[in-house]
Amino acid sequence: MDLKLANKTVLVTGAARGVGLACVGAYLAEGARVVATDIAADAGMDAVGALAGEHDSGRDRVRFIAADLRDGAAISDLVTQAETAFGPIDICINNAAVTHRANFLDLDVADFDRVLATNLRAPFLLGQAVARRLVTLERQGVIVNIGSVNAQLALPDNTAYVASKGGLLQLTRSMAVALARHGIRVNMVAPGSIDTPLQRGGMSRSPELRRMVLSRTPLGRLGRADEVADAVLYMSSPRASYITGECLYVDGGRIPLNFTVPVDDAALAAFEIERDGS
Ligand SMILES: NC(=O)c1ccc[n+]([C@@H]2O[C@H](COP(=O)([O-])OP(=O)(O)OC[C@H]3O[C@@H](n4cnc5c(N)ncnc54)[C@H](O)[C@@H]3O)[C@@H](O)[C@H]2O)c1
Repeated sequence: MDLKLANKTVLVTGAARGVGLACVGAYLAEGARVVATDIAADAGMDAVGALAGEHDSGRDRVRFIAADLRDGAAISDLVTQAETAFGPIDICINNAAVTHRANFLDLDVADFDRVLATNLRAPFLLGQAVARRLVTLERQGVIVNIGSVNAQLALPDNTAYVASKGGLLQLTRSMAVALARHGIRVNMVAPGSIDTPLQRGGMSRSPELRRMVLSRTPLGRLGRADEVADAVLYMSSPRASYITGECLYVDGGRIPLNFTVPVDDAALAAFEIERDGS
């Protein structure tokens, strides 16, 4: 199916690794032009540069711009630089996020603010900046916010992250209904447990936790970053032209599950071997 994304200008945040980097590759494969951004300047430049080399005219169709999205001025500059590079942004993927583990009773307000600034305030500011340009230029566009099953499911030791993703879901809905009359669609793609650096250092950081994660995953495995990217591509494409204000879960069945499913020990062992060897 042609997703009709060729020659679109796409901005992807958190693009140095994981889901963001997979999105960069997926849009390049569809013939889009991609502005990739991340706070990790060197890692981002290297990863995005290597990926660009794998695609036809990839190096001409990708720019990496380092930016800390907690900084509102940096967000304005980013939108301007992206437009200078490739023309007005058609599609904006708000993917960058951080977590902070802490017992709720010990959670420091500075850590709460830092997580909210990255995961909720930045998508608001970037989404608003992109939407303002689209409205001014009388162009249609799409914003996809990368959420999480934790928009609905709570964790006892990651309050700021859970609150940020819950807020992002309502930000998505609010933006969708506000921007619909301008021809701008806004949706969320919400991953479950995806095999990325964030996951390996977080919910899957020990064998016990990985077993727990799989016991809550009916499809019996972690998801891959490219599986999330495929959902992002679809939601941002003209093929999803009548979908706005929605949340698409890419979670192996996590949300509909009550209680747990049996864990396949072979699948768990395979992940352990692959993880320890990586
Ligand atoms: N991996 C999972 O299991 C999982 C599950 C649910 C939701 N998600 C969501 O998917 C998205 C991507 O997750 P991932 O696993 O690829 O994460 P990741 O940690 O591998 O990558 C996140 C990227 O965001 C960048 N970033 C962090 N703070 C930034 C800032 N202030 N400015 C600019 N860039 C910044 C990081 O440098 C990093 O490259 C996130 O929104 C995350 O919440 C992931």
